Amino acid sequence: MQKTKIKKILNKKNKIPITCLTAYSKTIAQIADKYCDIILVGDSLGMVLHGMKTTRDVKIETMILHGKTVKTFAKKSLVVFDMPYRTYTSKSIAYKNAKKVIQLTRCDAVKLEGGKKITKIIKYLVDKGIPVMGHVGLLPQTSINFKLKGKDFFQRKKILQDAIAVSKAGAFAIVIECVVESLAKKITKSVSVPTIGIGASRYCDGQILVTDDMLGLSDFSPRFVKKYSNLKKIIDKCVKSYVKEVKTRRFPSQKNVYK
Ligand code: KIV
Repeated sequence: MQKTKIKKILNKKNKIPITCLTAYSKTIAQIADKYCDIILVGDSLGMVLHGMKTTRDVKIETMILHGKTVKTFAKKSLVVFDMPYRTYTSKSIAYKNAKKVIQLTRCDAVKLEGGKKITKIIKYLVDKGIPVMGHVGLLPQTSINFKLKGKDFFQRKKILQDAIAVSKAGAFAIVIECVVESLAKKITKSVSVPTIGIGASRYCDGQILVTDDMLGLSDFSPRFVKKYSNLKKIIDKCVKSYVKEVKTRRFPSQKNVYK
């Protein structure tokens, strides 16, 4: 099943764009599962759900809890588990943690951030039968600031080499985060596996966004996020109405009472 899903993703290279969103909960997993090829249990949940300043404080146990829920309610999509900061510092540590994650959550694959430096780790996991999604460009776990990548020649060269190395190490897809369009286009042409862009242009083989951002639930709104709704405003209105109705005894009404 997992192998078939990955094959389907690989077959979409240079064809139909691959659709991906993040999910951390039952409801979002159920909705995303109806429409998306890939669901990522992203460590962005640290910032989105828990108000952390960076993803570096996210614990593997927290991720496992959300991973289990998402995988339980996503039947069709490929579910990818984002390995948190410092859980893949060596081949053996990465394998121990990834094995535990897959056993406990039943997720289909793991995602690791990094380029050339982690290719041995990626290869090791893939050889042991754990599918890996790569992540290059802006790397939230190790970046000091949230800045566009690939503007100068040396950075472009490094990110391109990173992507090629990750692809050769056996990753089945690569997330490219926040890079200039021309670099995303070049990477997509240079690697044999699908690229999934976030702030990396339409030239990628697929797209991913953090669901809370595209729904307008979070306060994060860089240029690359398109807000398909403003759920925060809608929820605000609902909560305000509820409080007003409770205070004026309009809620609960006869409809909400047991006789
Ligand atoms: O953690 C996350 O949600 C991610 C996406 C931004 C790709 O890594």
